[in-house]
Amino acid sequence: MTRKILVTSALPYANGSIHLGHLVEYIQTDIWVRFQKMRGNECHYVCADDTHGTPIMLRAEKEGVTPEQLIARVWQEHFDDFSAFHVNFDNYGSTNSAENKESAQSIYRTLKANGLIEVRSIEQYFDPVKNMFLPDRFIKGECPKCHAKDQYGDNCEVCGAAYAPTDLIAPFSAVSGAKPELRNSDHYFFKLSDPRCQNFLREWTRGGSLQAEAANKMQEWLGAEGENKLTDWDISRDAPYFGFEIPDAPGKYFYVWLDAPVGYMGSFKQLCAKTGIDFDDYWKQGSDAELYHFIGKDILYFHALFWPAMLQHAGFRTPTKLFAHGFLTVNGEKMSKSRGTFITARSYVDHIKNTEYLRYYYAAKLNGTMEDIDLNLDDFVAKVNSDLIGKYINIASRCAGFISKKFDGKLADVSVETEIDFQNGFHSLNEIAQAYELRDFAKALRNIMAFADDINIYVNDNKPWELAKQEGQEQKLHLVCSAALVLFKQLTAMLKPVLPKLALDVEAFLNINPLTWNDAKSKLPAGHTINEYKHLATRLDPKLIEAMVAANQESLQPQAHSEQRHAAHQQQETKKAMTETETTPYISIDDFMKVDLRVARIVDAQHVEGADKLIQLTLDIGEEKPRNVFAGIKSAYAPEALKGRLTVMVANLAPRKMKFGMSEGMVLAASGSEPGLFILSPDDGAQPGMRIK
Ligand code: MSP
Ligand code: ZN
Repeated sequence: MTRKILVTSALPYANGSIHLGHLVEYIQTDIWVRFQKMRGNECHYVCADDTHGTPIMLRAEKEGVTPEQLIARVWQEHFDDFSAFHVNFDNYGSTNSAENKESAQSIYRTLKANGLIEVRSIEQYFDPVKNMFLPDRFIKGECPKCHAKDQYGDNCEVCGAAYAPTDLIAPFSAVSGAKPELRNSDHYFFKLSDPRCQNFLREWTRGGSLQAEAANKMQEWLGAEGENKLTDWDISRDAPYFGFEIPDAPGKYFYVWLDAPVGYMGSFKQLCAKTGIDFDDYWKQGSDAELYHFIGKDILYFHALFWPAMLQHAGFRTPTKLFAHGFLTVNGEKMSKSRGTFITARSYVDHIKNTEYLRYYYAAKLNGTMEDIDLNLDDFVAKVNSDLIGKYINIASRCAGFISKKFDGKLADVSVETEIDFQNGFHSLNEIAQAYELRDFAKALRNIMAFADDINIYVNDNKPWELAKQEGQEQKLHLVCSAALVLFKQLTAMLKPVLPKLALDVEAFLNINPLTWNDAKSKLPAGHTINEYKHLATRLDPKLIEAMVAANQESLQPQAHSEQRHAAHQQQETKKAMTETETTPYISIDDFMKVDLRVARIVDAQHVEGADKLIQLTLDIGEEKPRNVFAGIKSAYAPEALKGRLTVMVANLAPRKMKFGMSEGMVLAASGSEPGLFILSPDDGAQPGMRIK
């Protein structure tokens, strides 16, 4: 029986680039969808850019473009990035579409008609210069608890306290700098506290649609029976806002998270228009189609509470299952700009090109749970080279040449080969299919690679390269190489969900129709002609990874959080400068002499309260007053170990105001793709203040 399946990935925000963290989700989903399609199921995969909200509105304004222009540009970037990683959506839309607007407004109208929308006046900070209400993240001030300056409106990054923006001391607008005023405004609420919602959600979250871990989390959020912990959800924002207007509520817009999940429907509607699929067949209450949302664990709240409650009470079906995954770490740590591990999809493509390496690695790590997954860059290289090249590609590269050279490209009749079982690989194909179905790709690949091991043993035992040199072994050579290639075809079918582009190349090389799941146990007929073998993939060179990490590494000059925007701007400037100098690869001696490098003595080094990367250095460079410098070297040095030693500093860098005080220069340190950070020392005899040139 063919299943009807609709699959989505979370809609990426249109205010940032796709990075390797995002790709965990889109690659995971794409593999699963490709598997379903290979099985012959009717499976549709839709996604879209999530385009609404204040940050996008403000960013467009800053760039001097309209929000529509901004999201159109980002849409193309996102789409190209996904395509490069072979993430194959059946439709990639935008939440800012006519279809989505229609769906969002009609869902809202039904909820309202059902008595689940309420209007209430709330008091909120207003920026009198920008003439807009300020989201928490755009209000700053002094932390009411530890009195750290320049903290966001929702929580303090120094002491970790959470509070309301109205608790901040001396608040100011992060948009204009103005002192915000408290003003009243009508807001629209979705009444999640209504017993209908509470009861429905209590049941739904226990009904098997959630992973056990997620279901537990939900019970926590819902509270004990009768406790009714859920509060109403504020779904409106005041103009100016980039989003959809709320029907019959002039100047009020849907909060971005209201129309974002509806975007799954909006995108699917576009697919229906293109292909003639019946929308209601998939979305009407009582639909027999399956609906799956792949999401990160950070957005579970929206998908397991708000979204099903909206669907249920607007007359739609609810998701069959939510598949939540964990977060990506790189080399065991959070992705980090200073370590060069905050890697964009684009930068991966620019440096490594072959995106199936990453698909393979992620697949080998994904097991269908909410655990975080680690991209260990050394392990990445090792695994790609040992498994993908060493075990898989190797089979074809060792056998194909003989078929072309000695047998006119024609395969032998492999039915006489009794050493191996062509029916089910050497291992249970059902087990592999089951593992794919349960999103335990790690297990699927372990089994597939065990199959590859067995094929390699078969090839090694029969040694075609020796048979080729022996008299009268022609027939055996023909049989062994043909059998190995048939098995290689089966292996390729099993790997195709993970490695679609490679599979395409193998199909061309073997001169066969697109592989389906059944090809994982079928043979090729005697006399079938294959094409000449051209190499299918090369080893991954660790130097490419080093270069990628180096290119993503931001300068050592630490960046206070509050100055991130300034830093991003500076980065762009540097990039511009770099492309400008690309035509002349050299700088003049005058350019170099602009940098005033000095020998410095570290007279004092201290921890910086609340900063996990910084050390505060007091540097003597022979001036009257020592310099104060914040250096991002805490990961590598204890302050005690630094006191008294000599190092090198840039003395004429413009002073920068940071969260913790003024930084009056920069110390130099070496780092690469390996962990570790090494500050410089001059040779014995150098004195503080000496110029380095
Ligand atoms: N726009 C919302 C989703 C709306 S869905 C109706 C959003 N966007 S996002 O761009 O921040 O994230 C998109 C998806 O990528 C989310 O599922 C998120 O969990 C996932 N990831 C983003 N960074 C990630 C990692 N570092 N690791 C793994 N997944 C991550 O949330
Ligand atoms: Zn604080």
